[in-house]
Amino acid sequence: MASLRVHICSLLAYATFVSLISCHSLPKNHVALFIFGDSVLDPGNNNYINTTFRYQANFWPYGETFFRYPTGRFSDGRLISDFLAEFAGLPLIPAYLQPGNHKFIDGVNFASGGAGALVETNQGFVIDLKTQVSYFKKVEKSLRQELGDEEAKKLLSRAVYLISIGSNDYLTRNWTASDVEYVAMVIGNLTIQLKEVYKKGGRKFGFLNIAPLGCTPLLKVQIGSNGSCNDEVNKLAQLHDRELPKALQKIEKQLSGFKYSNYNFYKTAGERLNNPPKYGFKDATTACCGSGLYRGIDSCGGKRGVKEYELCKNPDENFFFDSIHPSEKAYQQFAKEMWSGGSDVIWPHNFKQFFEV
Ligand SMILES: *[C@@H]1O[C@H](CO)[C@@H](O)[C@H](O)[C@H]1NC(C)=O
Ligand SMILES: *[C@@H]1O[C@H](CO)[C@@H](O)[C@H](O)[C@H]1NC(C)=O
Ligand SMILES: *[C@@H]1O[C@H](CO)[C@@H](O)[C@H](O)[C@H]1NC(C)=O
Ligand SMILES: *[C@@H]1O[C@H](CO)[C@@H](O)[C@H](O)[C@H]1NC(C)=O
Repeated sequence: MASLRVHICSLLAYATFVSLISCHSLPKNHVALFIFGDSVLDPGNNNYINTTFRYQANFWPYGETFFRYPTGRFSDGRLISDFLAEFAGLPLIPAYLQPGNHKFIDGVNFASGGAGALVETNQGFVIDLKTQVSYFKKVEKSLRQELGDEEAKKLLSRAVYLISIGSNDYLTRNWTASDVEYVAMVIGNLTIQLKEVYKKGGRKFGFLNIAPLGCTPLLKVQIGSNGSCNDEVNKLAQLHDRELPKALQKIEKQLSGFKYSNYNFYKTAGERLNNPPKYGFKDATTACCGSGLYRGIDSCGGKRGVKEYELCKNPDENFFFDSIHPSEKAYQQFAKEMWSGGSDVIWPHNFKQFFEV
């Protein structure tokens, strides 16, 4: 319905060559979704950049369950952002770099697998956060042209901004800084970019904190880990997760109207790793797709150097689809918690509250 109205309006404006008629008004209570971050939210932006298969998932069996073709999503099916869009009554939010005419009225997704808050993180192979935000600024400009300043501002201030960033900074940790300094750098750079989005009208920011990355099959089979969780990486994640809320509270005091929502991904992923049957998983140790112990070698699809890989029959039984990314079933559970969960998992607002105008 919403998009129908926009189409009719564009036609009218086009036919009459009158851009002044106030036809380009937004549907009532329309809330867009803009998405930034890493592979947890990337719907295929990396399909369109010069990178390597390590940072891409546009080959089989990625996408095998829901889409039935590889879209570039690092899972068997939909991601958290896809489910949140559905719950909010929005269509699937497209990848910014996907060719074609984007409307941007419902939002757009800038996330890039492998990206971090630091430009050095996987530099040259990913779209870092700063570049993602520079793309957002282009979108803001195009929305102002399309809708006029006032309507564009309304759209941007009502919109929800979903962000998953930091994991890749901690996975590619540069040891020249201490833990505390490194986390401060990551959060410092994230803060700079949040303020840029705020300047363009963004007000409602939703975050996933850092999951227990050290307990992913990928990290458990790395040299030195010998099958158990990598405590160093988990410690960094925990430090980040303690510092992020402090930073957000500080920004809230500085910027009027700034609202945030923080999902405790560390806790909720940890609960599933510790007690898979409680959440309907048969296995939260071994990935569905990959090779070696726990299928922790990142070979899903056979294009990342190692050609042979194993694939489970039913990805719904596994928490992990590949050596580091959750399955669609896990993502759906997270999205449901983010949408309507209580303050034990998401606070101070859940996404349902965020999407109420
Ligand atoms: C893509 O990257 C490869 C390897 O890094 C490089 O050799 C090639 O020139 C790049 N192509 C473009 C179009 O940038
Ligand atoms: C690590 O940090 C130092 C100092 O900032 C820098 O010179 C170096 O290039 C970095 N190394 C990597 C691998 O990012
Ligand atoms: C942002 O990251 C860079 C490294 O990319 C670092 O030198 C700088 O200090 C960070 N900025 C803040 C505000 O932490
Ligand atoms: C690795 O784990 C195996 C089995 O749990 C054990 O026998 C072996 O001693 C461990 N190796 C190291 C270096 O800790």
